[in-house]
Amino acid sequence: MPRIASRLLAAASLAVAAGAATAQDAQINVICSVQAEWCNMIQTVYARTTGVKVNMSLKGSGEALAQLIAERANPKTDVWFGGTGDPHLQAAEQGLTLEYKSPSLPQLHAWAQQQAQQSGYRTVGIYSGPLGFGYNPELLAKKKLPVPRSWADLLKPEYKNEIQVANPASSGTAYTMVATLVQLMGEDKAFEYMKALHRNIQTYTRSGTGPIKAVARGEASVSISFVHDGPGEKLQGFPVETITPGEGTGAEIGSMSIIKGARNLEAARKFYDWALTASAQEMGAAARQFQLPSNKSAKVDPNVPDFKKIRFINYDYAKYGASAERRRLIAKWEKEVNSLPR
Ligand code: F6P
Repeated sequence: MPRIASRLLAAASLAVAAGAATAQDAQINVICSVQAEWCNMIQTVYARTTGVKVNMSLKGSGEALAQLIAERANPKTDVWFGGTGDPHLQAAEQGLTLEYKSPSLPQLHAWAQQQAQQSGYRTVGIYSGPLGFGYNPELLAKKKLPVPRSWADLLKPEYKNEIQVANPASSGTAYTMVATLVQLMGEDKAFEYMKALHRNIQTYTRSGTGPIKAVARGEASVSISFVHDGPGEKLQGFPVETITPGEGTGAEIGSMSIIKGARNLEAARKFYDWALTASAQEMGAAARQFQLPSNKSAKVDPNVPDFKKIRFINYDYAKYGASAERRRLIAKWEKEVNSLPR
């Protein structure tokens, strides 16, 4: 195990020392909607420190919600960890998740506690991150293309076939883009914008991190991505930079929920309490993922985007996390944007 992971293991042991697993709660089923390295680190550290086996299944935010809806009558999941907040709010509204007030709640930033309050404590914020663009400076230079600095820039004809973004039905990142544009421009203009943008899109990926990985590897020049997903690629040696659009942008409140009907409820609550501690949240950066942690005492890695330097819209999480609104906007995007020829 790398040195950083063993240090976290020691810290995490202290955090969970209070609760040893009982026989019936010796395992827990988790849907994990952050990147694999972080999910795997949680799985290893949590099992070693508590003796609780973590069965992990990796799913994008929209796909995770679809699975929870499908298994509603016979839930196989105990905790949904990570992924954008809107589908977690939708799950809360649909009664798919369980109310729980963790004793760790007061340790969290106001935005994370607000996410809990507005869902009736059926979800909670675990991290936040701004939406923006990823770009490959080497590829742009080779193609003599400028760095895009605004939403408007992405419509320029020279970016035809150069941009990747995910599909909002499967990806919370892409849904955050749809909701951000609607709030920034008004719905009619936002859909006109997305239709025009469609002409420049090379491909719509399933997962939200797919596009910035493609940019890092030189398969596309520009992505619409969470900017915290850039530094991890860069640390692996890939040429990738990030920027946020001048007109303003939205941010996610990555969330966590306990599933209604969880078979390992006691273990789910213990895992949830642990995941809100500072030491557990610092595992994100140790796994080269640089969202802003929701625990106020968690160390903020220098690679975490500086929120003070970004122009944000006043994102209405309650409105865009409501089931009817999310379903309506995604269906409209499929019908009016994705169906168009390119
Ligand atoms: O794990 C990286 C990340 O960008 C998270 O910050 C975010 O919650 C998640 O991916 C969204 O993934 P997707 O767009 O595939 O639902």
